Amino acid sequence: MTHHTVPMQRPRRLRSTPAMRQLAAETRLHSRDLVLPMFVREGITEPRAISSMPGVVQHTMDSLRAAVVDAAEAGLGGVMLFGIPEHRDAMGSAATDPAGVLNAATRAVAAEVGDALVVQTDLCLDEFTDHGHCGVLAGDGAVDNDATLKRYQDMALAQAASGAQLLGLSGMMDGQVAAVRSALDEQGYTDTAILAYSAKYASAFYGPFREAVDSQLTGDRRTYQMDPGNRREGLREATLDMAEGADAVMVKPAMSYLDVLADVAAVSTVPVWAYQVSGEAAMIEAAAANGWIDREAAITESLIGIRRAGADAILSYFATEVAGWLR
Ligand code: PBG
Repeated sequence: MTHHTVPMQRPRRLRSTPAMRQLAAETRLHSRDLVLPMFVREGITEPRAISSMPGVVQHTMDSLRAAVVDAAEAGLGGVMLFGIPEHRDAMGSAATDPAGVLNAATRAVAAEVGDALVVQTDLCLDEFTDHGHCGVLAGDGAVDNDATLKRYQDMALAQAASGAQLLGLSGMMDGQVAAVRSALDEQGYTDTAILAYSAKYASAFYGPFREAVDSQLTGDRRTYQMDPGNRREGLREATLDMAEGADAVMVKPAMSYLDVLADVAAVSTVPVWAYQVSGEAAMIEAAAANGWIDREAAITESLIGIRRAGADAILSYFATEVAGWLR
């Protein structure tokens, strides 16, 4: 007989069977926590492939509607719409035109799916400006923060009028949440929610997205998007956005910024979302296409990791497909 000793800890007991592992799981994926980003392009009659984003297309109005129905049937939490206009100008006029591609698509999608999922729109000027920046430019070529806020207010009203239920403020202008909130409230759109892309970093992982929206940008966005080395500042941005009335805050990209995500999730009083961006998806696709990783397992693990770090919901190009796996 041995003496009384502390029994050996055996964490493996909880890994002994699939059922035991399921019961012991701390983090799960749900289709309702997934949001699909989608692109709709003006003036095309067939969906167009995006070479750096296998499986993702620039939709026609019709193919968009069909894909949104699929997303709703898959049980997704929502879709985030991005528009690619035929004509761009310095002010991004198409963004505020009720007949502009994004606003027209939003009306079509809202009519198609109603309340089956949350219809969301990207609120940023970069798809609409001929210079490709997220705001309008001052005489010296710098992005003019406060002039841009006025454009964002008009854009918010156009999107809300089109039926968007949640606006994704991705432009990283200072004061954008307060500006958009007050414009919405003044016009009676008190139920239109604001998702603030609070900690949005100037990231190389947006590369494929730039192809997806035919970005006209030649320089970079470092005067408004965040420096990848700054962790504390991510928390600062999220805190400011909450104080300005954001209904949810976002950290973007996800994978390279999980520490920021965890920091924000630890203190946030509103839902915290994360965006698994185009370059993150592209890396998985490229490695899987080479047979270097198991695609489904890698996608699942990447999303679980983002949830574990603190994301309540995730924007992912894999959303509809993953929802199919979760059934
Ligand atoms: C800006 C915007 C970008 C993305 C979403 N919204 C691009 C950028 O900031 O350059 C990138 C998303 C992705 O890479 O998947 N409207």
